[in-house]
Amino acid sequence: MSDLILKTLNDLSPTLDPDFIYLKRELDTLFLHRRFSKTPGESVSMVTQRISDTRKKAMKIAPHTCIRECLFAESRIDRHFAYRQVLLIVAQTPSKTLIDVGCCMATDIRTLITHGYPISNITGLDCETGFIQLSFSLYNQSQYSFGAQFRVADVLDPRLRERCGDLDSKFDFVHTANVIHLYDEAQQEVLLRALAFLVKPGGLVWGRQVGIEERSIDQHRQPEGKGVRFTMNQFRRLWLAATGWETASGQFEAILTPYDELRTPRKDKRFSMQWSIRAPVEAPTRRLVELINPMGCT
Ligand SMILES: C[S@@+](CC[C@H](N)C(=O)[O-])C[C@H]1O[C@@H](n2cnc3c(N)ncnc32)[C@H](O)[C@@H]1O
Repeated sequence: MSDLILKTLNDLSPTLDPDFIYLKRELDTLFLHRRFSKTPGESVSMVTQRISDTRKKAMKIAPHTCIRECLFAESRIDRHFAYRQVLLIVAQTPSKTLIDVGCCMATDIRTLITHGYPISNITGLDCETGFIQLSFSLYNQSQYSFGAQFRVADVLDPRLRERCGDLDSKFDFVHTANVIHLYDEAQQEVLLRALAFLVKPGGLVWGRQVGIEERSIDQHRQPEGKGVRFTMNQFRRLWLAATGWETASGQFEAILTPYDELRTPRKDKRFSMQWSIRAPVEAPTRRLVELINPMGCT
């Protein structure tokens, strides 16, 4: 018998035993596996074993919270306020393209596909080849039968525009979840410019990361080094400063939700900020980026 024990929301322990796999959305997670696995009718313990094996390997690549807490195995994109709107638009216009920046093991991508997003119009981008490779063993799936595109790239790379010139203004939807908060403020500005580089004029950039309440500006900002967090107003201003977009107030939306997906609640991760921003049709972004880096990113 497997030495793994599948734990669900009802029997969470406050500590994270590495031999336990905690699934907060057990049914949805099993559904995703059964939808994509090449082996029909897999048992819960087979799926759990794969999640555990994948977690151990992924921890050696980069021990992000999403890996430690098995969040890589559970979808989160469908909790975003823009999710239904995106799916409605795609139902009417299936040619709409989407990129998931920091796709990790493409669990959100598989959720989108399950909910009807045409697979051939989705691209997953991540700086870690290993996560993309693990994505196929995690879902017991052949890479070649999947159909979505994958791209290995670092969105902070100063030569991104040169290396990924084919992705310039290519996507109607640019999604990024739980990536921005990994970086300091200057890096976040670069990252936002990279998202602006990827989106089509008039397209939607949307995502989430750890956020903070307006009234607790000084708490848990982690100003030294990695992982600066912002209030919704600060984040909107960061977007405008990074891109030069003159966005009308209605074109940036954000909400704070309790970060209740974490197994071990943390004071510095109490809220998740969901946001979306509509790229202007006439975007000055590229001009702005050229002014910032007149030598063309070399
Ligand atoms: C914390 S995980 C979040 C994964 C997933 N989006 C989610 O919400 O669960 C961050 C992901 O972003 C990727 N990532 C971090 N920095 C990146 C960068 N500069 N360029 C591309 N991908 C990056 C990591 O490799 C990892 O897969």
